[in-house]
Amino acid sequence: MKINETVALVSGANRGIGKAFVEALYSAGAERIYATARSIDSLTDLVAIDPQRIIPIALDVTKPDQIAAVVQQTQGVNLLINNAGVLGSGGFLQIIAM
Ligand SMILES: NC(=O)c1ccc[n+]([C@@H]2O[C@H](COP(=O)([O-])OP(=O)(O)OC[C@H]3O[C@@H](n4cnc5c(N)ncnc54)[C@H](OP(=O)(O)O)[C@@H]3O)[C@@H](O)[C@H]2O)c1
Repeated sequence: MKINETVALVSGANRGIGKAFVEALYSAGAERIYATARSIDSLTDLVAIDPQRIIPIALDVTKPDQIAAVVQQTQGVNLLINNAGVLGSGGFLQIIAM
């Protein structure tokens, strides 16, 4: 895969690893990056880097209606980085005891 031919979609792009993915893809020359986050306002700084190539979209990955809307709002995605998530704390036995 050539990064300069990549149209990426990164979920949870407003902070942490997701934000780092967007920055790395941008630096590597990705054609377009859809940066998604629960709060579109939280993407302002990232989009300011290059509004032509970093496109903000609101997306809570637990909401099927928002996922369907994202499909309508995007074109040509050939790299999905489904980064959004919550890292659970505690071990396996602690989780099944809940
Ligand atoms: N860091 C690690 O060592 C590690 C290890 C293993 C796996 N991971 C996984 O790697 C991913 C990123 O880790 P991180 O350290 O960057 O985590 P982080 O700093 O806690 O960031 C999590 C990101 O996911 C977003 N998010 C959470 N629930 C969401 C939802 N329902 N819809 C949309 N976005 C949602 C958060 O958005 P908000 O700002 O709106 O909360 C935030 O942007 C996570 O899935 C995590 O489980 C991380």
